[in-house]
Amino acid sequence: MKNWAIRLQGFGLMMILVGGSCTSGSAPSRKLLVAHRGASAYAPEHTLAAYQLALQQEADFVEQDLQLTRDGALICLHDESLERTTNVEDVFPDRFIEEGGLAGPVRRWYAKDFDLSEIRRLDAGSWFSPDFAGQRIPTFEEAVKLIRGRAGLFPELKAPQKYRGWGLDLEQAVVRALQSADLFEPGAQAGTPVYLQSFEASSLKRLREEFDCRLPLVLLIGTGDSELTALSSLREIARFGAGIGPDKSLLNRDAQLAARARRLGLRVFPYTFSRARLDPEMNDLSSEMAFYLFTLGVDGLFTDNPDLFPRAD
Ligand code: G3P
Ligand code: CA
Repeated sequence: MKNWAIRLQGFGLMMILVGGSCTSGSAPSRKLLVAHRGASAYAPEHTLAAYQLALQQEADFVEQDLQLTRDGALICLHDESLERTTNVEDVFPDRFIEEGGLAGPVRRWYAKDFDLSEIRRLDAGSWFSPDFAGQRIPTFEEAVKLIRGRAGLFPELKAPQKYRGWGLDLEQAVVRALQSADLFEPGAQAGTPVYLQSFEASSLKRLREEFDCRLPLVLLIGTGDSELTALSSLREIARFGAGIGPDKSLLNRDAQLAARARRLGLRVFPYTFSRARLDPEMNDLSSEMAFYLFTLGVDGLFTDNPDLFPRAD
């Protein structure tokens, strides 16, 4: 049995039973449920259907991954290209770019090579299930319209440096979209808090310094960037960021990481908790999430299964 499973059976489990947090003696704050790409275990990721279901499953925040179209529209899409989650190959069979892949050439249909009017023609639901045929890639504006007043927004700026190289300014587009939605100032809309996230620290710093963005900024940390979890790195992140979003395995390997970050005032939101990727040593996803929330003391987490989020209150 892994160390953390043993710990869960001990002190952490006791804390779950009393509904408390083991990180402080004060009243526990509400743990935040971020619906990862919407309720993406049950509906196609980043569709209005997935966002709507996340709201029904009482998400505190709904996540959007943001990409840009050729004509500068912000759309909710995880990959930079369209072929995994849409029927772009059928609708635009000749509009690919061929790239070298590990197993030979691969064809990519990049969102930045299409106008929004073209992207609106794509089916973003059938790949997941025929039940969702006809779901479209939403614009960020459409997502905001659906979610505002009902939950918070947790947009991720995907690959901002790449977009800059392609002549598109992702940070500026996000700032303008939030300004026009009257969401750029913290607390501007009751019931719609906004956190911004990215894997690129330079992008978050630019938001803070160039755009004077005061919204909480969360630096995502992948498994290949574990050096960012060192105390000195966390101190640097705390200069511009409000939190970190580590791959959950980083916390599992380093049980002090959450406490170390929180002592510096950083909130901690690990990703991604999914029944499809349950740790084989855990009985169920709710128990896995409870371990991170109530034993390691993270502030919230990203999950594909909002309905399985364990509430202590
Ligand atoms: O943003 C948190 C988590 O979503 C990061 O992973 O690849 O699903 O965007 P990814
Ligand atoms: Ca994301």
